[in-house]
Order: sequence, then structure tokens, then C-alpha cells
Amino acid sequence: MEKEIKTIGVLTSGGDAPGMNAAIRAVVRKAIQNGVSVKGIKKGYQGLLNEEIIDLEAKNVSDTIQRGGTILGTARCLEFKTEEGQQKGAEICRKHGIDGMVVIGGDGSYRGAQALSRNGINTIGIPGTIDLDIACTDYTIGFDTAVNTAMQAIDKVRDTSSSHERCSIIEVMGRNAGYIALWCGIANGAEDILLPEKYDFNEQQIINNIINNRKKGKKHHIIINAEGIGHSTSMARRIEAATGVETRATILGYMQRGGSPTCKDRVYASLMGAYAADILCAGKTNRVVGYKNGELVDFDIEEALQMTKEIPEYDYQVSKFLSR
Ligand code: ADP
Ligand code: F6P
Repeated sequence: MEKEIKTIGVLTSGGDAPGMNAAIRAVVRKAIQNGVSVKGIKKGYQGLLNEEIIDLEAKNVSDTIQRGGTILGTARCLEFKTEEGQQKGAEICRKHGIDGMVVIGGDGSYRGAQALSRNGINTIGIPGTIDLDIACTDYTIGFDTAVNTAMQAIDKVRDTSSSHERCSIIEVMGRNAGYIALWCGIANGAEDILLPEKYDFNEQQIINNIINNRKKGKKHHIIINAEGIGHSTSMARRIEAATGVETRATILGYMQRGGSPTCKDRVYASLMGAYAADILCAGKTNRVVGYKNGELVDFDIEEALQMTKEIPEYDYQVSKFLSR
């Protein structure tokens, strides 16, 4: 028989992402509408182990949808990777009357969600990461805001790059994934886009491109470099030495994780939060929410973690073609 759900918890874990607050708000309000009480766990699994648990009413999440970051705070917690930590987390849930949990985070956080579920706490994951690197979903909370933030910053760098007739290498986040780099590369009309997934990094080719573009009269040369390739500063030094063109590196960094979420991030995060609350209140466990082919779906966590995702070949080819 399915466990009756009277109280659920919600936590954010791993790197923060704009839109997480919209998801928290939706979880709280949808669960309450379903007749279920909600508790907020502060600072991810670390806060769970420290029993940093608060009651959340509908009014506690008002005036949050437009805010960046996460109102609950987030953390990385090594102790929760241990069997003892996971059992302790589940015990603390039982002590506070928490029958189910919504975990908003990335792949690592899903492993923690799986552990809670294994230890008797019904758990549902929601994809929250700017990196878009979760295979079971076409959308992750925060990606849209992050690429818009990065795109606007790159436009600004391009202005000064053109004025000084410089080459600019702009490094964007994404851990080992190149989705932010690919999207910014296309959106900013970059001359070169370097993605870790494609293993096609060829510095001599970039040098040749810069020299050829100069001959054609181009005043700027924008290279979008993914964090997964990195080394932008040393790359800039080598390119300047080889081309004679002044070259600067800009590492955009954490600004990409902050800021007020875009409309898309607010709406999709709200839909995912509501969906997660609904399936959790209905007694489902060990599932993650995704957005695939235009609809909300859910998968078994293990199945989701086994899925693989690749940079779409057509998008990659278009990015190459348009940069010439
Ligand atoms: P993300 O969720 O963004 O991928 P991390 O990989 O840092 O970020 O994971 C966030 C947190 O999830 C970790 O600090 C840890 O508390 C928990 N976690 C990660 N891997 C596991 C695991 N194998 N088992 C249990 N918990 C895990
Ligand atoms: O996963 C989001 C992300 O910003 C990645 O793009 C980046 O590699 C990582 O988090 C940085 O993590 P931290 O906050 O631990 O420095």
C-alpha cells in the first residue's frame, strides 16, 4: 500500500540556479493545495543533517519568484555521501514527521535523493543547474537565465574588443558540458566556439582564423571557450604572440549563476515544482521530473542517471557554419 503523505520537505542542493525560488514556491503552494504541510530544509543535505528545518506556509514564499539564488540556501555535503549520513538524514526526516522530500539540484543531488528514497523517505528530484547537463530533460532550471546573462556580458566585451581591434577569449561556465558555450557562441555570433564534448580544440586553426579575419577587415574576434576546456589566460598569451593581435581573456564566472530569473525559468520552474509536489503527494518516490518533447515527464532516478546526452550535431554544425 502506498504511504500516506502528510508532510513533505523541500531542499536545494549543489550549485544554486536562478529559478530555484520559483520551484520552491510552487512545491509549497501546490502541496498545501493538496492538503499536505511543507517544511523547508536549509543548506541542502548539510542543513538536513544539522536539522535546519523550518515550517513553510504559502505566505513564506511570497515575493520570491523574481529573486535569484535560493531562499533556502544550498551546500555540498560530503557526509551525505556515506551510508551513515544517509540513514541519519532519513531518521531526522522521520523525527520531524517528514514523509517525502523534493530535492532541487543536479546529478549529484539526485544520488542523495535516491539514498533518501532507499531509506524510506519518498523523494522526487527536480533538475536545477545552469549547466543543462542532465540527460533526462531538455530543460534545467537556471540555464535560460545564465545564457541570457552571459550573452549580454559578451555583447559588452565585444564593444570594447571592436574599439581596440582586439581578440577576446570569453570563458563561460558549464563544468564539463558545453551547452552554455554553444548557445552563447551562436547568440553572440562568435568567430570560434570551443566545446569540451567535441575534442576539436585546435589552437593553430584559431590563429589562422584570426589572421584571415584581419585580412578581411574584421575588427574583433570573439572566442567563446567552455570552462571544461579552460586555460583562457594562457591561451590568450599564446594567441597574441602568434598573431600579433592584442588578445584578452575574460572569465565570466559566478555572475552567470546570479540574477533575477528569466520568464522561461520562472514558468518552467513553477511547472516542475507543481508537478513534483503532485506526484510526491500521490505517493510516488525515487523519480525525477523532466521536460521532454514539450511535456512534463518523470523517470526512475537510476534510469535517469544512466541516460546520456550529447551536444546536438545539427546545432554544432550550424554554429561552425555561421561563425565563418
Ligand atoms: P549537483 O547536484 O549540482 O550535481 P554535486 O555533485 O556537488 O552537485 O552534489 C550535491 C550534493 O549531493 C553533494 O554535496 C552531496 O551532498 C550529494 N551527493 C552527491 N553525490 C552523492 C552520492 N553519490 N550519494 C549521496 N549524496 C550525494
Ligand atoms: O554546476 C554549476 C556550476 O556553476 C558549474 O558551471 C561550475 O563548474 C560549478 O558549478 C562551480 O561550482 P562551485 O560553486 O563549487 O565553484
